[in-house]
Amino acid sequence: MNSSLLIRNIGQLLTLRGPAGPRRGAHLSELGIVRNGAVLTCEGKIASAGPAAEVESLAASRSAREIDVQGRIVMPGFVDSHTHLVFGPPRLMDFEMRLEGADYHAIAAAGGGIRASMSAVRALSADRLALQARRHLAEFARCGTTTLEAKSGYALDESNECKVLELLRDLDGKPLDIVPTYLGAHVTPPEFDARCDNYIDWIIRRMLPLLSEQRLARFVDVYCDRGAFTLQQARRYLEAACALGFGVRVHAEQFANTGAARLACELGAASVDHLEQATEADADALGKSSTVATLLPGSVFHLSLERYAPARMLIEAGAAVALATDFNPGTSPTVSMPMVIALACRRMGMTAGQAIVASTANGAYSLGLGGRTGTLEAGKDADLVLLDVEDYRELAYWFGMNPVLTTIKRGRVIYQRGFVSDLEDGDGRRL
Ligand code: NIG
Ligand code: FE
Repeated sequence: MNSSLLIRNIGQLLTLRGPAGPRRGAHLSELGIVRNGAVLTCEGKIASAGPAAEVESLAASRSAREIDVQGRIVMPGFVDSHTHLVFGPPRLMDFEMRLEGADYHAIAAAGGGIRASMSAVRALSADRLALQARRHLAEFARCGTTTLEAKSGYALDESNECKVLELLRDLDGKPLDIVPTYLGAHVTPPEFDARCDNYIDWIIRRMLPLLSEQRLARFVDVYCDRGAFTLQQARRYLEAACALGFGVRVHAEQFANTGAARLACELGAASVDHLEQATEADADALGKSSTVATLLPGSVFHLSLERYAPARMLIEAGAAVALATDFNPGTSPTVSMPMVIALACRRMGMTAGQAIVASTANGAYSLGLGGRTGTLEAGKDADLVLLDVEDYRELAYWFGMNPVLTTIKRGRVIYQRGFVSDLEDGDGRRL
């Protein structure tokens, strides 16, 4: 089972140690770097992470299995706090239409968009969806993600939303941790015939109590935007979710500024996500609140839009910023947190250090898991990645490449990169 593991000869160990709670301001770039570090894991937890001399002198280190990382980097596994994991097939028609110049709303009007995924998810069996989700989870693990949030919201009726949320429950911990979110208010399904208020009423009356009783979701999310749900509908829905004890997350200020970010702060939401159209007033509200600002540059990139979320303004206002993939078939078909970091640094002016903390510790705090994962500190889960680079800034510098050599979840190696034929380094080691 989970025996002890000693990871040694770490050139830069990014511990991200620091005070509990989401990181803001100057703390957002504190990586807690230990040069020549080591990590000892025991029974799936971090027993010690720090200078090699300290960690290796522990009695338990002597009997532990060893991984020598030869001067490379070790950091916490990525916590991807915004994904739509279960969606059926890729939306290639949307993609082609967009390449020909159609925008997101025109594509939806032509039969693409969220409703196209809805029809597919309703039609597919749980087994079929599970197969696809497991393939995606393997890619997440290859890219260094060890925990992810996953939203429903591509089924929208009772039995199929439950099918997806039950699937997420079954996939949890195998091997990645999955935090389930009910995104009932994604679009209004056809059976409500554009009667959005009636759909919200039905969710409040039927779905939220059911999901609460069956414990199928930890969070509830709403897409509040032009062409989606209004601020008033979002308020009603979120207040009902809060009253039942769900944490809440909000898709806000993506295409238009609606006031959803400030509503989220007022309601003490765990996270407000997107924020491409956020204003200074939104940034101020986030700076003063406990709500994490989750930025999703992959969706701006995939939609070929110009306006990325104003990360610097948010950071300067004191907001706790997280980064996530928004993995979904319409606006962000990527599982790669390294790609998200590359975009955040180039297009939103974040530093590599800020992007790393935003992709690990702050993602974990936004999911209520900050005490368990997201940093490498004694007592937390041994969720970590070994990167095939020697300086942490390379994680942002190389793009479209996967720097992950090994992914470790709760002390167990769940992914190990393979070798290429006929290539060796100067010491005869295979590359
Ligand atoms: O986060 N904006 C709403 N929801 C998703 C997109 C969903 C889709 O197009 O399938 C998002 O971008
Ligand atoms: Fe999303």
